[in-house]
Amino acid sequence: MTAEAVLITGGASGIGLTCARQAAARGARVAIVDINPSAAADAVATLEGHGHLAIAADVTDADAMRSAADQFADGGSITGVVAAAGIVSRLPLLDIDVSEFRRVLDINVIGVQNTISAAGPHLIRAGALGTVVVLGSAAAFTGGGLMGNGAYATSKAALIGLVRGYARELAPHRVRVNMVAPGATETPMTDVLSDTDRDRIAGMSLLGRLSKPEEIAAAIAFLLAPDAGTITGQILHVNGGVVFG
Ligand SMILES: NC(=O)c1ccc[n+]([C@@H]2O[C@H](COP(=O)([O-])OP(=O)(O)OC[C@H]3O[C@@H](n4cnc5c(N)ncnc54)[C@H](O)[C@@H]3O)[C@@H](O)[C@H]2O)c1
Repeated sequence: MTAEAVLITGGASGIGLTCARQAAARGARVAIVDINPSAAADAVATLEGHGHLAIAADVTDADAMRSAADQFADGGSITGVVAAAGIVSRLPLLDIDVSEFRRVLDINVIGVQNTISAAGPHLIRAGALGTVVVLGSAAAFTGGGLMGNGAYATSKAALIGLVRGYARELAPHRVRVNMVAPGATETPMTDVLSDTDRDRIAGMSLLGRLSKPEEIAAAIAFLLAPDAGTITGQILHVNGGVVFG
């Protein structure tokens, strides 16, 4: 039986790190791929089990991402990819300059494309066990206003097309590609919020609170599991009712 091997971008922090911990705890081999080398190494050191890798790479660098995927697969397969690396931008669309807008799109969109294409051949080798979960955001449906701005919302909306495009291309190989779209979640990304902003954002949720990273990671684990074997090209909303799918 093929052992579970999960590559997680942005795995050194927040949602990605929580996914890494959950995957390692269920016996998977994990690669944490992150632009922050020391945080990635520290994160891997805390994981249960053996054979995990910390790989320093910028998701915007296609060559680096190919090397990372090849190193982790080591001639075998990658069964799961969690594309969690991302940044938030809070500048209003009326003020944002083109270089900042491009930086958001580069990391949040091209970074995901680099990740899935780099892992592609190794996922295809895993066949029906191959699966990808991309981190979208409720912001794509609200136009921002939670954590990020319109540029962030634009980047996460673009990922919907990317996920469905890959779902179509990889389906003949039985590889599935889905999105989890969180609302505001308690991670270092939201630690920067003022109490006022935090209360305002919590108030946008029908349940009156932010999600915990474990709640997002549980939804991701559901989509990664073979039992989700006929779910592909879908968006799973985990946002306390901020938006309905
Ligand atoms: N936290 C939230 O409220 C929230 C809500 C909706 C969606 N999301 C999405 O979930 C994902 C994870 O968010 P989080 O809250 O865990 O964030 P986080 O800031 O805690 O972690 C992001 C990780 O990505 C890494 N990273 C950033 N740029 C990178 C790059 N160019 N190459 C490689 N790694 C890079 C960072 O070093 C960090 O370890 C993001 O895509 C984010 O947009 C988060």
